[in-house]
Amino acid sequence: MKFSIPRGTQDILPGESEKWQYIEEKARELCRRYHYQEIRTPIFEQTELFARGVGDTTDIVQKEMYTFEDRGGRSLTLRPEGTASTVRSFVDQKMHGWADQPVKLYYIGPMFRYERPQSGRMRQFVQFGVEAMGSSDPAIDAEVIGLAMDFYKELGLTGVKLVLNSLGDQESRSNHREALVKHFEPVIGELCSDCQERLTKNPLRILDCKKDSEHEKQATAPSILDYLNEESSVYFDKVKKYLEDMEIPYVVDPGLVRGLDYYNNTAFEIMIDGEGFGAITTLMGGGRYNGLVEEIGGPETPGIGFALSIERLLMALETQGIKLPADHQVDAYLVTMGELAKDQAPSLIHKLRHAGLSVDTDYLSRKMKGQMKAAGRINAGYALILGDEEVQAGTIEVKHMLTGSQETVNISELTDYLKEGKTKGES
Ligand code: HAM
Repeated sequence: MKFSIPRGTQDILPGESEKWQYIEEKARELCRRYHYQEIRTPIFEQTELFARGVGDTTDIVQKEMYTFEDRGGRSLTLRPEGTASTVRSFVDQKMHGWADQPVKLYYIGPMFRYERPQSGRMRQFVQFGVEAMGSSDPAIDAEVIGLAMDFYKELGLTGVKLVLNSLGDQESRSNHREALVKHFEPVIGELCSDCQERLTKNPLRILDCKKDSEHEKQATAPSILDYLNEESSVYFDKVKKYLEDMEIPYVVDPGLVRGLDYYNNTAFEIMIDGEGFGAITTLMGGGRYNGLVEEIGGPETPGIGFALSIERLLMALETQGIKLPADHQVDAYLVTMGELAKDQAPSLIHKLRHAGLSVDTDYLSRKMKGQMKAAGRINAGYALILGDEEVQAGTIEVKHMLTGSQETVNISELTDYLKEGKTKGES
């Protein structure tokens, strides 16, 4: 029987995995600078967490979750996103009681959505996300957005566009909601069955409907920005002002509603223009979720965050021809000739590895020529050639692979010799 990889997933192989490591390292380093600390939550959670957290009228909860029953009869779901899990942990671990507030966290890990796979849309994808909980200062909205923008910038991506909106607070939203119902009600029969359901449950989502995007009532729908109360409006102005001060360009799009239910006030996405990127143009999404901690059983706590997938980021980098360092640098490859020399190999490379060098050797009993070829193939800095004669003399031949120059070195001085070459950047 032949097994194939599940649809919408991928194997990340050597050559590619180094790029992932580089990106993840970049994310970690950036979070360190912004003082966000890592949280790792389980891959699965109680199904109810996402139904409540993400919202049961969302596509994610209605049709995209990987839900299963465990042997104890509990309904569990592979996490479709990281915010609900992070907030669950915030409540569970009583982070609101931590001395250091707001609590600023980040995560990098796989998420699962049963979506129709296409370029940039996977069933398993890796999100890098941050969540800041415990502050309703608009400055932290600007911080979170600034972090996301810096991430793309530092990876060299150009043409990214920050799109911003305010969904308002509870009062503003409910006024807007009423206006939306009034607006769409007379034509509801012309809209898709999902939108008919949305009208009563969450009319804002009608604005985001792919099927009904061309309906004439969409263009004239009431804008949330006209329904912001004084407080929400001042808040939004402050976020915009901070972004301007930080010289982060943005465009306001009152049509940006986001696909998850927990948002209020600031909502944002980072999009990318450019050819070759296919239909998917959103690189990142996020926003403020002031009611979510309470919804999940915690004390009233404001929160804001974003998430982006590394898959989409890699696609964008590729379209722009941006090369990431993908080398796996091996300092030296030990080539042995003869039984005596071969027997010395395990302890010799063990010693070199303990000294911090990256070293490999032959495990296929290849002839010398084959071993030298292997050294070349993996791009080793040096080939260390050990024959029975050298073993007896306590020496080793060290060949610099790039220049072809060769030297006889005392085995006792080999580590220092290689390390010196490494610091000089020769290997
Ligand atoms: P989201 O908009 O559902 O928000 O997803 C955020 C990002 O995850 C997207 O912009 C995209 O980069 C990536 N993404 C989503 N679905 C897929 C997929 N099927 N394949 C590849 N990439 C995908 C959230 O998940 C929120 N939790 C963001 C957030 C954090 N809001 C506040 N804090």
